[in-house]
Amino acid sequence: MAKKLNLETLLLPVFLVLLISSNPYMASASIEEANALLNWKASFANQTQSRLPSWNLLSHKPGTTSPCTWFGIFCNSAGSIIKINITSFGLKGTLQEFSFSSFPNLKYVDLYMNSLFGTIPSQIASLSKLIYLDLSNNHLYGEIPPEIGLLTNLQVLYLDQNQLNGSIPHEIGCLRSLVKLGFSSNNLSGLIPPSFGGLRNLTLLHLYRNQISGLIPKELGNLVSLIDLEFSHNQLSGLIPKELGNLVSLTYLYLFNNSLSGPIPHEIGNLKSLVKLLFNLNNLSGLIPPSFCGLRNLTRLYLYGNQLSGPIPKELGNLISLTYLDLSENQLFGGIPSEFGLLTNLEHLVLSGGRMAVSGLGLCGGNVVVRGGGVVVVLGIQQDEEIQKVQKDNKARFVREGKERRRLWAQRNIPRSSKRGENKEGEGIQDVAETEPEKESTANVGMLPSDIVELLASREKQVCLSDSEDEKTEVKRNPTKKKKKSSYQDSNFGTDEPMS
Ligand SMILES: *[C@@H]1O[C@H](CO)[C@@H](O)[C@H](O)[C@H]1NC(C)=O
Ligand SMILES: *[C@@H]1O[C@H](CO)[C@@H](O)[C@H](O)[C@H]1NC(C)=O
Ligand SMILES: *[C@@H]1O[C@H](CO)[C@@H](O)[C@H](O)[C@H]1NC(C)=O
Ligand SMILES: *[C@@H]1O[C@H](CO)[C@@H](O)[C@H](O)[C@H]1NC(C)=O
Ligand SMILES: *[C@@H]1O[C@H](CO)[C@@H](O)[C@H](O)[C@H]1NC(C)=O
Ligand SMILES: *[C@@H]1O[C@H](CO)[C@@H](O)[C@H](O)[C@H]1NC(C)=O
Ligand SMILES: *[C@@H]1O[C@H](CO)[C@@H](O)[C@H](O)[C@H]1NC(C)=O
Ligand SMILES: *[C@@H]1O[C@H](CO)[C@@H](O)[C@H](O)[C@H]1NC(C)=O
Repeated sequence: MAKKLNLETLLLPVFLVLLISSNPYMASASIEEANALLNWKASFANQTQSRLPSWNLLSHKPGTTSPCTWFGIFCNSAGSIIKINITSFGLKGTLQEFSFSSFPNLKYVDLYMNSLFGTIPSQIASLSKLIYLDLSNNHLYGEIPPEIGLLTNLQVLYLDQNQLNGSIPHEIGCLRSLVKLGFSSNNLSGLIPPSFGGLRNLTLLHLYRNQISGLIPKELGNLVSLIDLEFSHNQLSGLIPKELGNLVSLTYLYLFNNSLSGPIPHEIGNLKSLVKLLFNLNNLSGLIPPSFCGLRNLTRLYLYGNQLSGPIPKELGNLISLTYLDLSENQLFGGIPSEFGLLTNLEHLVLSGGRMAVSGLGLCGGNVVVRGGGVVVVLGIQQDEEIQKVQKDNKARFVREGKERRRLWAQRNIPRSSKRGENKEGEGIQDVAETEPEKESTANVGMLPSDIVELLASREKQVCLSDSEDEKTEVKRNPTKKKKKSSYQDSNFGTDEPMS
């Protein structure tokens, strides 16, 4: 046994020499890549180095001299490295010792969730074939090197959750192949570069939780492939550009907790694929656009904490997929449109509460509204008179059935959550956290009697006339609930399968 091992060890250099002489270019390329990785490894903190025992040229195992068999390393058929994938591994080191110019064929770098620190070197631009770069969830700091803009094959660029600062280089707008761009949860400041308008293949743009200020560039209206646009928790100001109404594939539009002002453009009503529209905690004014009536797939509409005024448009009664609707802390007045009775999927309706009372009208017993079971909060707002009349007629029945109703409600399992301001609503890869205002428990809840349902159904026909054709079938439909897939899992880009 010992003799055999010795023999292999002895033969190893011979084997390498043979490789070099038979195909000098490939072998030397492979050796350079291996050495570059070893140098990088040597710069890691000690305890991290020991986690990569396979990264070792002097291994006694036959066939392990090539880096292609090392942990997290993938090569093409010529033996050159095309992918480095070491995620959630606790690597503690920097990118300064990473010799970017030694990896001419590298296409994928996935170092998500390690402990990398220091800056991103501008030499990263020498990875000219790079398609995929994920350095998110590390401790990188300093500025994003503008040279990243030279990596024109990049389709995925995730730098989320680091401590990067400075402004976003406008050169990023040169990355015309980009499909996903995540810079969230850093300390980036300055403006959103208008050059982003050139990223026409972009489906995901996450800039949330930074210090970004200024206007939302109207050029973003060119990003017609966008599905997920999240700018929440920044200092964006000015108007919401009406050009966003061109982004017809948008499913998630999160602009909450900024300083946006002015009216909500009625063009937002064109975004018929929207599932979640979160404009809460801004300074938006004017009316809630009746054009929202076309947003049939919308499950969540948060407009709370703005300066919106006027009546609640009855057209919102067309948003049949709604489960969460929060219009509180605005200057809305008037009653709840009776059309809301059609919102059969509604679980949470918040129309008031907090600092700002709904102006004008007094409390009116705040009861009821939703057919099909749901929790409703109605405080400080007047009931539709017609509904009140029918409800009065039904009072006796309500009392009779009340006990049973309360028993049913008690069985409903409604998620509780922390205070609103602390919710991380729907950001990033997570689905939206379920929220529920604390005053919920004080609200009266109940089922809508059938005659009100009929009344509402007849009124519904007057709403959003152009859309009323498919009303019947739409109302019956129960929207299927889809969990949003993790961006980090979704990394199947290009056709280059590793050949390791
Ligand atoms: C790593 O360990 C060696 C001895 O094993 C020690 O000399 C060196 O200082 C350590 N380096 C770090 C960065 O901890
Ligand atoms: C890296 O590996 C992880 C799991 O090991 C996988 O989820 C991810 O998709 C891989 N990344 C790339 C770019 O292949
Ligand atoms: C970024 O942070 C570093 C410290 O990590 C600081 O020296 C530098 O001034 C900051 N740059 C900007 C633009 O804030
Ligand atoms: C954008 O996507 C389309 C369709 O996938 C593709 O044909 C085109 O090459 C992409 N554009 C760039 C600049 O990568
Ligand atoms: C972010 O930048 C601001 C100045 O722009 C600075 O005051 C703050 O300390 C920075 N935060 C972190 C976590 O680096
Ligand atoms: C609305 O959702 C349904 C079901 O998920 C989907 O088939 C349909 O394409 C969506 N409509 C739009 C306009 O995106
Ligand atoms: C909100 O907008 C109004 C004008 O509509 C303006 O007077 C006010 O200063 C703004 N408040 C904030 C906090 O931006
Ligand atoms: C809004 O964003 C700021 C940072 O821009 C943050 O400090 C604050 O906690 C956020 N407010 C809420 C209610 O989430």
